[in-house]
Amino acid sequence: MRDIQSLFIKNILNGTRSNLKECGTAFAASNIALCKYWGKRAVALNLPVNSSLSISLGHLGTHTEIRQGNQDRVMLNGSEMAVNEPFVVRTLEFLDGFRPLLGNTYFEVRTQNNIPTAAGLASSASGFAALVMALNNWAGWELDGQRLSMLARLGSGSAARSIFDGFVQWNAGTNPDGSDSFAEPMAQIWPEFRIGILKISEAQKPIGSREGMNRTVATSELYKSWPAQAEADLATLRTAIDTQDFTTLGKTAEHNALSMHATMMAAWPPLIYLQPDTLEQIHTVQRVRADGLEVYLTIDAGPNIKLLFLEKTQATVAAAFPDVEIIQPFG
Ligand code: DP6
Repeated sequence: MRDIQSLFIKNILNGTRSNLKECGTAFAASNIALCKYWGKRAVALNLPVNSSLSISLGHLGTHTEIRQGNQDRVMLNGSEMAVNEPFVVRTLEFLDGFRPLLGNTYFEVRTQNNIPTAAGLASSASGFAALVMALNNWAGWELDGQRLSMLARLGSGSAARSIFDGFVQWNAGTNPDGSDSFAEPMAQIWPEFRIGILKISEAQKPIGSREGMNRTVATSELYKSWPAQAEADLATLRTAIDTQDFTTLGKTAEHNALSMHATMMAAWPPLIYLQPDTLEQIHTVQRVRADGLEVYLTIDAGPNIKLLFLEKTQATVAAAFPDVEIIQPFG
Protein backbone atom coordinates (compact mmCIF):
# COMPACT_ATOMS: atom_id res chain seq x y z
CA MET A 1 0.00 0.00 0.00
CA ARG A 2 2.83 2.38 0.92
CA ASP A 3 4.64 1.58 -2.31
CA ILE A 4 1.49 2.29 -4.32
CA GLN A 5 1.07 5.67 -2.59
CA SER A 6 4.76 6.57 -2.99
CA LEU A 7 4.60 5.81 -6.70
CA PHE A 8 1.43 7.88 -7.05
CA ILE A 9 3.10 10.85 -5.32
CA LYS A 10 6.15 10.52 -7.55
CA ASN A 11 3.96 10.52 -10.64
CA ILE A 12 2.00 13.56 -9.49
CA LEU A 13 5.20 15.50 -8.86
CA ASN A 14 6.56 14.24 -12.17
CA GLY A 15 10.12 15.44 -11.64
CA THR A 16 9.15 18.80 -10.06
CA ARG A 17 12.20 20.06 -8.16
CA SER A 18 12.05 20.75 -4.44
CA ASN A 19 13.57 24.00 -3.29
CA LEU A 20 13.06 23.98 0.49
CA LYS A 21 12.43 27.25 2.32
CA GLU A 22 12.85 27.48 6.08
CA CYS A 23 9.24 26.39 6.59
CA GLY A 24 5.95 26.03 4.77
CA THR A 25 2.54 27.11 6.09
CA ALA A 26 -1.04 26.79 4.97
CA PHE A 27 -4.66 26.98 6.15
CA ALA A 28 -7.39 24.69 4.85
CA ALA A 29 -11.04 24.98 5.77
CA SER A 30 -12.96 21.94 6.89
CA ASN A 31 -15.86 20.84 4.74
CA ILE A 32 -19.23 19.23 5.16
CA ALA A 33 -20.57 16.93 2.50
CA LEU A 34 -24.08 17.54 1.24
CA CYS A 35 -23.71 14.38 -0.86
CA LYS A 36 -21.54 12.03 1.17
CA TYR A 37 -18.48 10.05 0.19
CA TRP A 38 -19.11 6.62 1.64
CA GLY A 39 -17.21 3.57 0.37
CA LYS A 40 -13.94 3.01 -1.46
CA ARG A 41 -13.46 1.25 -4.77
CA ALA A 42 -9.69 1.01 -4.11
CA VAL A 43 -8.25 1.31 -0.62
CA ALA A 44 -4.54 1.95 -1.32
CA LEU A 45 -5.18 5.06 -3.43
CA ASN A 46 -8.28 6.10 -1.50
CA LEU A 47 -10.52 5.99 -4.54
CA PRO A 48 -14.21 6.45 -3.77
CA VAL A 49 -17.16 4.47 -5.04
CA ASN A 50 -19.20 7.63 -5.58
CA SER A 51 -18.64 11.29 -6.34
CA SER A 52 -19.47 13.69 -3.53
CA LEU A 53 -20.26 17.37 -3.04
CA SER A 54 -19.42 19.58 -0.08
CA ILE A 55 -19.44 23.09 1.27
CA SER A 56 -16.42 24.46 3.09
CA LEU A 57 -16.61 25.85 6.60
CA GLY A 58 -14.99 29.26 6.15
CA HIS A 59 -12.81 30.04 9.18
CA LEU A 60 -13.11 26.59 10.76
CA GLY A 61 -10.24 24.36 9.78
CA THR A 62 -6.57 23.62 10.20
CA HIS A 63 -3.46 25.72 10.11
CA THR A 64 -0.25 23.75 9.53
CA GLU A 65 3.41 24.60 9.52
CA ILE A 66 6.11 22.18 8.39
CA ARG A 67 9.89 22.40 8.56
CA GLN A 68 12.96 20.19 8.72
CA GLY A 69 13.76 18.66 12.13
CA ASN A 70 16.35 16.45 13.83
CA GLN A 71 13.68 13.81 14.31
CA ASP A 72 10.02 13.45 13.34
CA ARG A 73 7.86 15.56 15.66
CA VAL A 74 4.18 16.38 15.49
CA MET A 75 2.56 19.12 17.59
CA LEU A 76 -1.22 19.31 17.76
CA ASN A 77 -2.80 22.46 19.19
CA GLY A 78 0.46 23.39 20.92
CA SER A 79 1.23 20.00 22.54
CA GLU A 80 3.78 17.51 21.33
CA MET A 81 2.13 14.18 20.55
CA ALA A 82 3.61 10.77 21.33
CA VAL A 83 4.82 8.96 18.23
CA ASN A 84 2.40 6.10 18.81
CA GLU A 85 -0.69 8.37 18.88
CA PRO A 86 -2.97 7.41 15.96
CA PHE A 87 -2.94 11.02 14.72
CA VAL A 88 0.87 11.03 14.57
CA VAL A 89 1.10 7.57 13.02
CA ARG A 90 -1.31 8.61 10.27
CA THR A 91 0.47 11.92 9.66
CA LEU A 92 3.92 10.34 9.47
CA GLU A 93 2.76 7.43 7.31
CA PHE A 94 1.41 10.00 4.89
CA LEU A 95 4.60 12.07 4.99
CA ASP A 96 6.71 8.94 4.42
CA GLY A 97 5.52 8.98 0.82
CA PHE A 98 7.07 12.43 0.36
CA ARG A 99 10.30 11.83 2.26
CA PRO A 100 12.41 10.52 -0.66
CA LEU A 101 11.45 13.60 -2.69
CA LEU A 102 12.57 15.91 0.12
CA GLY A 103 16.07 14.60 0.75
CA ASN A 104 14.93 11.91 3.22
CA THR A 105 14.55 14.60 5.84
CA TYR A 106 12.88 14.46 9.26
CA PHE A 107 9.72 16.52 9.64
CA GLU A 108 8.57 18.91 12.31
CA VAL A 109 4.86 19.52 11.93
CA ARG A 110 2.80 22.03 13.91
CA THR A 111 -0.93 21.71 13.48
CA GLN A 112 -3.57 23.97 14.94
CA ASN A 113 -7.20 22.89 14.65
CA ASN A 114 -10.03 25.19 15.57
CA ILE A 115 -12.51 22.32 15.25
CA PRO A 116 -12.69 19.33 17.58
CA THR A 117 -10.44 16.53 16.32
CA ALA A 118 -12.29 13.37 15.20
CA ALA A 119 -15.69 14.45 16.54
CA GLY A 120 -17.37 14.07 13.17
CA LEU A 121 -16.45 17.60 12.17
CA ALA A 122 -14.02 16.46 9.51
CA SER A 123 -10.71 17.61 10.96
CA SER A 124 -8.90 14.95 8.90
CA ALA A 125 -10.23 16.70 5.80
CA SER A 126 -8.76 20.10 6.63
CA GLY A 127 -5.74 18.44 8.29
CA PHE A 128 -4.46 16.58 5.25
CA ALA A 129 -5.39 19.42 2.89
CA ALA A 130 -3.43 21.91 5.03
CA LEU A 131 -0.51 19.48 5.26
CA VAL A 132 -0.31 19.05 1.49
CA MET A 133 -0.60 22.79 0.90
CA ALA A 134 2.08 23.46 3.55
CA LEU A 135 4.38 20.91 1.83
CA ASN A 136 3.73 22.58 -1.50
CA ASN A 137 4.54 25.97 0.02
CA TRP A 138 7.67 24.67 1.80
CA ALA A 139 9.11 22.87 -1.23
CA GLY A 140 8.11 25.51 -3.79
CA TRP A 141 6.39 22.96 -6.03
CA GLU A 142 3.63 25.34 -7.19
CA LEU A 143 1.24 22.47 -7.90
CA ASP A 144 -2.24 23.29 -9.22
CA GLY A 145 -5.42 22.57 -7.23
CA GLN A 146 -6.11 19.35 -9.10
CA ARG A 147 -2.77 17.83 -8.10
CA LEU A 148 -3.00 19.12 -4.53
CA SER A 149 -6.45 17.55 -4.31
CA MET A 150 -5.17 14.16 -5.48
CA LEU A 151 -2.30 14.27 -2.98
CA ALA A 152 -4.61 15.28 -0.12
CA ARG A 153 -6.95 12.43 -1.11
CA LEU A 154 -4.24 9.91 -0.21
CA GLY A 155 -4.29 11.15 3.39
CA SER A 156 -8.07 11.21 3.70
CA GLY A 157 -10.68 11.11 0.97
CA SER A 158 -12.64 14.11 2.21
CA ALA A 159 -9.36 16.12 2.26
CA ALA A 160 -9.48 16.11 -1.55
CA ARG A 161 -12.38 18.61 -1.23
CA SER A 162 -10.76 20.80 1.45
CA ILE A 163 -8.22 22.16 -1.04
CA PHE A 164 -10.97 24.49 -2.27
CA ASP A 165 -13.49 26.87 -0.69
CA GLY A 166 -17.22 27.15 -1.27
CA PHE A 167 -19.17 24.37 -2.98
CA VAL A 168 -16.82 21.62 -4.13
CA GLN A 169 -17.38 18.43 -6.12
CA TRP A 170 -15.04 15.47 -5.81
CA ASN A 171 -15.27 13.38 -8.96
CA ALA A 172 -14.96 9.69 -8.13
CA GLY A 173 -13.25 9.01 -11.46
CA THR A 174 -12.95 5.58 -13.04
CA ASN A 175 -9.22 5.14 -13.73
CA PRO A 176 -7.61 2.44 -11.56
CA ASP A 177 -4.48 4.63 -11.29
CA GLY A 178 -6.46 7.39 -9.52
CA SER A 179 -5.51 10.07 -12.04
CA ASP A 180 -9.09 11.28 -12.57
CA SER A 181 -10.22 11.29 -8.93
CA PHE A 182 -9.89 14.87 -7.70
CA ALA A 183 -12.06 17.71 -6.47
CA GLU A 184 -13.07 20.86 -8.32
CA PRO A 185 -14.55 24.06 -6.95
CA MET A 186 -17.95 25.20 -8.15
CA ALA A 187 -18.24 28.84 -9.16
CA GLN A 188 -21.58 29.48 -7.43
CA ILE A 189 -21.61 31.76 -4.41
CA TRP A 190 -24.55 31.77 -2.00
CA PRO A 191 -23.95 34.49 0.62
CA GLU A 192 -27.21 33.78 2.48
CA PHE A 193 -26.27 30.12 3.07
CA ARG A 194 -25.74 29.23 6.73
CA ILE A 195 -24.49 26.13 8.54
CA GLY A 196 -25.23 25.51 12.21
CA ILE A 197 -23.06 23.16 14.22
CA LEU A 198 -24.85 21.31 17.00
CA LYS A 199 -22.13 19.67 19.06
CA ILE A 200 -23.56 16.55 20.62
CA SER A 201 -20.27 15.06 21.77
CA GLU A 202 -16.58 15.85 21.35
CA ALA A 203 -15.58 12.33 22.36
CA GLN A 204 -13.40 10.37 19.96
CA LYS A 205 -15.66 8.06 18.00
CA PRO A 206 -15.03 4.34 18.56
CA ILE A 207 -14.94 3.40 14.86
CA GLY A 208 -13.40 5.90 12.44
CA SER A 209 -14.85 6.66 9.01
CA ARG A 210 -12.22 4.55 7.29
CA GLU A 211 -13.04 1.33 9.11
CA GLY A 212 -16.72 2.22 9.13
CA MET A 213 -17.00 2.60 5.38
CA ASN A 214 -14.97 -0.53 4.68
CA ARG A 215 -17.24 -2.51 6.99
CA THR A 216 -20.33 -1.04 5.35
CA VAL A 217 -19.13 -1.94 1.85
CA ALA A 218 -18.25 -5.47 2.98
CA THR A 219 -21.33 -6.34 5.03
CA SER A 220 -24.28 -4.01 4.42
CA GLU A 221 -26.94 -5.26 2.03
CA LEU A 222 -28.39 -1.75 1.93
CA TYR A 223 -25.10 -0.38 0.59
CA LYS A 224 -26.00 -1.88 -2.81
CA SER A 225 -28.44 0.96 -3.42
CA TRP A 226 -26.03 3.67 -2.26
CA PRO A 227 -23.98 4.41 -5.43
CA ALA A 228 -27.08 5.07 -7.55
CA GLN A 229 -28.68 7.25 -4.88
CA ALA A 230 -25.49 9.25 -4.41
CA GLU A 231 -25.23 9.86 -8.14
CA ALA A 232 -28.83 11.05 -8.36
CA ASP A 233 -28.50 13.21 -5.22
CA LEU A 234 -25.36 14.86 -6.53
CA ALA A 235 -27.08 15.85 -9.78
CA THR A 236 -30.09 17.21 -7.84
CA LEU A 237 -27.81 19.18 -5.51
CA ARG A 238 -25.88 20.73 -8.40
CA THR A 239 -29.10 21.97 -9.96
CA ALA A 240 -30.36 23.24 -6.59
CA ILE A 241 -27.12 25.19 -6.12
CA ASP A 242 -27.32 26.56 -9.67
CA THR A 243 -30.86 27.80 -9.15
CA GLN A 244 -30.48 28.65 -5.42
CA ASP A 245 -33.36 26.29 -4.66
CA PHE A 246 -32.80 25.92 -0.92
CA THR A 247 -35.73 23.57 -0.27
CA THR A 248 -34.46 21.01 -2.77
CA LEU A 249 -30.90 21.37 -1.50
CA GLY A 250 -31.94 20.88 2.13
CA LYS A 251 -34.22 17.90 1.47
CA THR A 252 -31.64 16.18 -0.73
CA ALA A 253 -28.76 16.71 1.71
CA GLU A 254 -30.77 15.44 4.68
CA HIS A 255 -32.07 12.44 2.77
CA ASN A 256 -28.56 11.65 1.56
CA ALA A 257 -27.09 11.77 5.08
CA LEU A 258 -29.79 9.66 6.68
CA SER A 259 -29.60 7.13 3.83
CA MET A 260 -25.86 6.83 4.47
CA HIS A 261 -26.60 6.18 8.16
CA ALA A 262 -29.11 3.51 7.12
CA THR A 263 -26.35 1.70 5.18
CA MET A 264 -24.14 1.92 8.30
CA MET A 265 -26.79 0.54 10.61
CA ALA A 266 -27.34 -2.35 8.20
CA ALA A 267 -23.64 -3.29 8.45
CA TRP A 268 -22.48 -6.03 10.77
CA PRO A 269 -21.42 -5.43 13.47
CA PRO A 270 -23.77 -2.44 13.16
CA LEU A 271 -22.40 1.08 13.04
CA ILE A 272 -24.53 3.43 15.09
CA TYR A 273 -22.93 6.83 15.27
CA LEU A 274 -26.10 8.58 16.40
CA GLN A 275 -26.36 9.22 20.15
CA PRO A 276 -29.62 9.67 22.09
CA ASP A 277 -29.09 13.45 21.97
CA THR A 278 -28.56 13.26 18.19
CA LEU A 279 -31.95 11.59 17.81
CA GLU A 280 -33.58 14.16 20.06
CA GLN A 281 -32.24 16.98 17.89
CA ILE A 282 -33.30 15.19 14.68
CA HIS A 283 -36.83 15.15 16.09
CA THR A 284 -36.57 18.83 17.01
CA VAL A 285 -35.56 19.64 13.42
CA GLN A 286 -38.59 17.72 12.16
CA ARG A 287 -40.88 19.49 14.62
CA VAL A 288 -39.72 23.02 13.82
CA ARG A 289 -39.88 22.23 10.13
CA ALA A 290 -43.48 21.06 10.52
CA ASP A 291 -44.09 24.45 12.15
CA GLY A 292 -42.81 26.16 9.00
CA LEU A 293 -39.12 26.79 9.74
CA GLU A 294 -37.00 25.82 6.74
CA VAL A 295 -34.10 24.04 8.39
CA TYR A 296 -32.50 20.76 7.33
CA LEU A 297 -29.69 18.67 8.73
CA THR A 298 -26.75 16.56 7.76
CA ILE A 299 -24.63 14.20 9.87
CA ASP A 300 -21.25 12.60 9.12
CA ALA A 301 -19.84 9.44 10.71
CA GLY A 302 -20.31 10.79 14.21
CA PRO A 303 -23.00 12.08 16.57
CA ASN A 304 -22.84 15.80 15.70
CA ILE A 305 -25.45 17.57 13.61
CA LYS A 306 -24.96 20.30 11.06
CA LEU A 307 -28.02 22.40 10.35
CA LEU A 308 -28.56 23.93 6.93
CA PHE A 309 -30.59 27.11 6.67
CA LEU A 310 -30.66 30.61 5.15
CA GLU A 311 -29.81 33.99 6.64
CA LYS A 312 -33.47 35.07 6.81
CA THR A 313 -34.23 32.32 9.36
CA GLN A 314 -31.04 32.73 11.39
CA ALA A 315 -32.67 34.37 14.43
CA THR A 316 -35.44 31.76 14.58
CA VAL A 317 -32.96 28.89 14.20
CA ALA A 318 -30.81 30.35 17.00
CA ALA A 319 -33.88 30.57 19.22
CA ALA A 320 -34.93 26.97 18.49
CA PHE A 321 -31.35 25.64 18.96
CA PRO A 322 -29.75 27.82 21.67
CA ASP A 323 -26.35 26.01 21.52
CA VAL A 324 -25.93 26.27 17.76
CA GLU A 325 -22.67 27.65 16.39
CA ILE A 326 -23.48 29.50 13.18
CA ILE A 327 -21.08 29.58 10.28
CA GLN A 328 -21.24 31.76 7.16
CA PRO A 329 -19.47 29.71 4.49
CA PHE A 330 -19.35 32.71 2.17
CA GLY A 331 -18.82 35.28 4.90
C1 DP6 B 1 -19.03 10.49 6.43
O1 DP6 B 1 -12.53 11.19 4.39
O2 DP6 B 1 -12.63 10.59 6.84
O3 DP6 B 1 -17.54 12.34 6.48
O4 DP6 B 1 -10.86 8.56 3.19
O5 DP6 B 1 -10.95 6.83 4.95
O6 DP6 B 1 -9.95 9.06 5.47
P1 DP6 B 1 -10.98 8.29 4.65
O7 DP6 B 1 -12.40 8.78 5.13
P2 DP6 B 1 -12.96 10.23 5.44
O8 DP6 B 1 -14.51 9.94 5.32
C2 DP6 B 1 -15.47 10.93 5.35
C3 DP6 B 1 -16.82 10.32 5.39
C4 DP6 B 1 -17.95 11.26 5.69
C5 DP6 B 1 -18.60 11.76 4.40
C6 DP6 B 1 -17.88 12.85 3.63
O9 DP6 B 1 -17.18 13.69 4.22
O10 DP6 B 1 -18.07 12.88 2.41
